Amino acid sequence: MSGFVVNKRVSNIAEVIRCTTDLPRAQMKVTNPELGLIFGTARSLLKEYPMNLFLCLDIEDPTNESSLTAIHTALEHLNSVKELARSDSEFVERDGLYHISRVISDDFINKSDQELKEGVALREEIIHNHNSTIRLHSERLGTLDSLVYTEILGLPPLKDDEVEVEVRAAGMNFKDLACAMGVVPANEHMLGFECTGVVREFGKNVTKFNIGDRVVVPNREGGSFANRVRYPAIGVFHLPDWISFEDGTTLGVAMHTALYCLVNLANVQKGQSVLIHSASGGVGLSAIDICKYLGAEIYVTVGTEGKRDFLEKNYGIKVMKPFTRKVLIGA
Ligand SMILES: NC(=O)c1ccc[n+]([C@@H]2O[C@H](COP(=O)([O-])OP(=O)(O)OC[C@H]3O[C@@H](n4cnc5c(N)ncnc54)[C@H](OP(=O)(O)O)[C@@H]3O)[C@@H](O)[C@H]2O)c1
Repeated sequence: MSGFVVNKRVSNIAEVIRCTTDLPRAQMKVTNPELGLIFGTARSLLKEYPMNLFLCLDIEDPTNESSLTAIHTALEHLNSVKELARSDSEFVERDGLYHISRVISDDFINKSDQELKEGVALREEIIHNHNSTIRLHSERLGTLDSLVYTEILGLPPLKDDEVEVEVRAAGMNFKDLACAMGVVPANEHMLGFECTGVVREFGKNVTKFNIGDRVVVPNREGGSFANRVRYPAIGVFHLPDWISFEDGTTLGVAMHTALYCLVNLANVQKGQSVLIHSASGGVGLSAIDICKYLGAEIYVTVGTEGKRDFLEKNYGIKVMKPFTRKVLIGA
């Protein structure tokens, strides 16, 4: 005998109503699932006759003493039950252990379900050297409150010509704000266009880098507000030791824009004069640096006295003549 069902009436009289023979394991470590029908039938009967207790016990081996003990325990339980509706009615004995089913809340599933409905709870975490890539993105264009760092799962393998960089510093560009506010069309999941860091991994065709090299990545694809970025090696450059990671981020898109305008397009030469509008912005400051390097005469406009003072103090540009809205100053 490997399982049996007993029925208890309200009168507290235990009566074995059915025994099965040689059909072991209907519940745990199942080998004879058809015997599970008995458990199903008992549940239906309990629903139909809630004043009765149908007790099911699935035992390991009827020749084991431990199984006989389990039967005895079940019968004792049957006789001791006071409140039928709240009593356990299904038991399994395996290797002398008495098992009772319990419904236990799954914290992981409950949390996932709650996060799906209410959004993920914010938590503080160090993202450096995290197992996965974590990146800033905008959940809702037009509002800066919806910027969140999110784990990026299922990234493809690194391409042969790519470098993966552990980000140490990232620069914020005017375009980031424009993207996040939905002013310019862009990928709101890929904010951050310039960063510095150290090489973490590279594809098999990459020969110019070693793991740990300091690099700067002017990343036109975006995605630099992250713990790591991937970019083709052709667009990744060594960062000299004497430039800090923070300073290195200023060598990104704004600097390239100023360089392209002043060198490639305008071909500015020593002694020529250059007028730079809104000179205290990212492109403006880059333009000042390049003009100084080229030996050009610099004239700038800025929107406020504070910006004028900033340029005077930090770039040695003197006030020449107040303008209507702008302040015209020259080096
Ligand atoms: N950053 C880049 O990588 C990049 C690349 C290509 C093109 N650009 C273009 O270059 C221009 C400057 O970019 P940037 O990165 O130097 O920007 P930024 O650092 O934010 O500077 C923008 C400057 O524009 C002036 N401005 C005038 N009206 C403004 C307003 N309503 N709101 C904010 N600023 C205002 C401000 O200077 P004043 O108060 O002194 O006028 C401010 O300093 C932009 O048109 C941008 O689209 C930038």
